[in-house]
Amino acid sequence: MTSLSRGEGVARRFPDGFVWGVGTSSYQIEGAVDADGRGRSIWDVFTHTPGSTNRGDTGDIACNAYNRLDEDVQLISDLGVGSYRFSVSWPRVLPSGTGTVNQAGLDYYRRLVEALNEKGVSPSLTVYHWDLPQALEDKGGWAARDTAERLAELALVLGEALGDQVATWSTINEPLQSVHQGYLHGTHAPGHRDAKLAAAATHHVLLGHGLALAALRSCLPAGTPIGLAMDPQPFIALTDDARPVADRLDTEWNRAFLDPVLQGRYPAELADHLRPPQELIEAGDLELISAPIDFFGVNYYRPHYVRPGNPAELRQGESAIAGERRFVEYKPPEVKRTVMEWIVVPQGLRELLGRLHRESGGLPLYVTENGCAADDYVAPEGIVNDEERIEYIHDHLDAVLDAIDDGVNVAGFFYWTLMDNFEWAEGYRRRFGLYYVEFESGRRIPKQSAGYYRQVARSGELPLPQEAARLAAIINV
Ligand code: FCB
Repeated sequence: MTSLSRGEGVARRFPDGFVWGVGTSSYQIEGAVDADGRGRSIWDVFTHTPGSTNRGDTGDIACNAYNRLDEDVQLISDLGVGSYRFSVSWPRVLPSGTGTVNQAGLDYYRRLVEALNEKGVSPSLTVYHWDLPQALEDKGGWAARDTAERLAELALVLGEALGDQVATWSTINEPLQSVHQGYLHGTHAPGHRDAKLAAAATHHVLLGHGLALAALRSCLPAGTPIGLAMDPQPFIALTDDARPVADRLDTEWNRAFLDPVLQGRYPAELADHLRPPQELIEAGDLELISAPIDFFGVNYYRPHYVRPGNPAELRQGESAIAGERRFVEYKPPEVKRTVMEWIVVPQGLRELLGRLHRESGGLPLYVTENGCAADDYVAPEGIVNDEERIEYIHDHLDAVLDAIDDGVNVAGFFYWTLMDNFEWAEGYRRRFGLYYVEFESGRRIPKQSAGYYRQVARSGELPLPQEAARLAAIINV
């Protein structure tokens, strides 16, 4: 089905059956890090290491979602969405990463998925969204092959316990960030800065996906959709001579992860220092990694522009690119940015969906994350007027409709994120939520964008731009 044409004054419609959702991840919202036998994760240790996060923020309490399950399920249901994407805290279920299951941890997720289903919201579970048990990190983390096997163990535990209640499964979220931020640049847990470890982690995270996929296939009801979510970063050359640089970055950031999953091989052009060493790749690994999936999840926030420049004398809007002396990343001043300093380019989402459609051979694609952080605040009259977010969502949904018109099979959209939460190294200062969270009390307050999103999700129609702001103002959740 195609959406209606973009004629003046005609609202555009999403195809029937299009899935509307919101997402979260365990460490970013749950808190309750000492509750009911939960073990330590690498994020517990990282956030308690001075200098790791903004103002030393930790996820110790976060949104306290662990203790506010019913309230949060109600908030999700109030949004009128059909699906909720969340992840499981590995050390809550397997406190030391392997072996004895912590039944209390598993019961929490059982209660969550049952409560969602009771409200008619379909659970979409991600097995791994970055909170590796510290006990496994102590044995080498993702640089060790055993961690991939342990992920499959977790997947099997979850599949057996929750398989009758969870509609859609993802193995891992954003392997790129796990590897680059966690092992190459040290900006995320576990905080390593070591290309050798990163190259090994690349293979083992992907192998973890392959082994977890096989484990889930072995225990879930036949036909249960299983996929994963990646965040390919578009690199766009602004001049002809910048093209090889954009291509190199595309290989290192994107193809290093996409090609093994979608084509069963690492790209030949991948630089040696980032290439998983041959001795780590056992026979059959790439077959596991590239085994068929049922959908592909796309997380999209921004593209990166590359142009000639001098990293020693950066001009406005420029930043250095590792390993480049004649080229820089460039943010044109006329392009809007969010408070994350991420440029806002909805067209990039259309193009990325088109690329993944081609590279995946037409797999159903879900936008598993897209959203914007803003300096939200509660106005004296009690409302959070986040027009900027409404416009961001609106324009990105418009781009999704363009991709659908291009013939791309986009099956759903999950706004990131349900409520303001612990934004990793940025801590609590970056608010991405549809609900504002007052962290002192834990109180959740719907932002105007929640009303807007509910309207779109319920009607399956994108209101005209001029209507969008007005609707948000009158529709309060
Ligand atoms: C993605 C992460 C998600 C959130 C958003 C803003 O990279 O998957 O947890 O932090 O960015």
